[in-house]
Amino acid sequence: MLTIFDTIKDIAIKIDHEIKTEDLGYSDSSNTSGEEQLKLDVKSDYIVEQAFKDVSIVKALVSEEKDGVLELHADGKYTVCYDPLDGSSLADVNLSVGSIFGIYEGELTGENLVASAYVVYGPRIELVLATKEGRPKHYRAQDGLFNFISEITLKDKGNINAPGGTQQHWAEYHKRYVDALFKDGYRLRYSGGMVPDLHQILLKGGGIFSYPGTTDRPKGKLRQLFEVLPFAFIFEQAGGHAINEQGIRLLDLVPAHPHDTTPCFFGTTYEMVALKALYRMKI
Ligand code: AHG
Ligand code: MN
Ligand code: MN
Repeated sequence: MLTIFDTIKDIAIKIDHEIKTEDLGYSDSSNTSGEEQLKLDVKSDYIVEQAFKDVSIVKALVSEEKDGVLELHADGKYTVCYDPLDGSSLADVNLSVGSIFGIYEGELTGENLVASAYVVYGPRIELVLATKEGRPKHYRAQDGLFNFISEITLKDKGNINAPGGTQQHWAEYHKRYVDALFKDGYRLRYSGGMVPDLHQILLKGGGIFSYPGTTDRPKGKLRQLFEVLPFAFIFEQAGGHAINEQGIRLLDLVPAHPHDTTPCFFGTTYEMVALKALYRMKI
């Protein structure tokens, strides 16, 4: 696992360099979810692929930017599912973006996720690594090296509300839930990039990020294998929760296809209890 984490550190430095120096704008292609790929998406994907080609414990790669599974080493133990550059269109307007990695052993299910990592490219490069042992660990890059900052432990309640999806397409009960949080004193913190938005909740100790199913996208937008499950793992390891709209743990999900999406909610205990209560009343 250390080899994989070290590879992610190298990848982070390289992708950060691309973001800061490369041409932005669209490439000529689109990805499996039908989204136009930015040149930065394609370049970041290439950086990740090249880096893991030399890591023999990695059996295969699954990327947000590619169809299917890329087999690497037949004797490898782990499959790395990744989003090379999440929120890539935000780079155009100089907002923070990120990379997300889920490390699976065996079938690609939430249960088989054994470690996760994400990188935030903002004013600084930060990295969070999580395994099944202990709390997630937070690092910051300085001169190309990652220094350990602290372990991440969530409280029972926060004051951040990060509601995703188009409001006009929210269900009535979801609107009620979001409004109830604001009435309870919560502050809107939503950049449109799940990596910096979730990073803020993790570092500030709590709150909730929601990306519900909507009338135009009943299964949500965020993809299970390389966006939702890696963060679900990190939230649970930090003492928080990650569930879908039925209150089922996201880590209990078994994606039928690598690019399947799911409604998702990440947060601390107080907000999750309230969410479950309001969502039960929807029927
Ligand atoms: P992508 O990897 O395609 O850039 O995904 C960005 C995600 C996520 O970061 C964010 O929370 C969500 O898309 C925002 O979605 P909307 O565009 O629907 O607001
Ligand atoms: Mn993404
Ligand atoms: Mn992406």
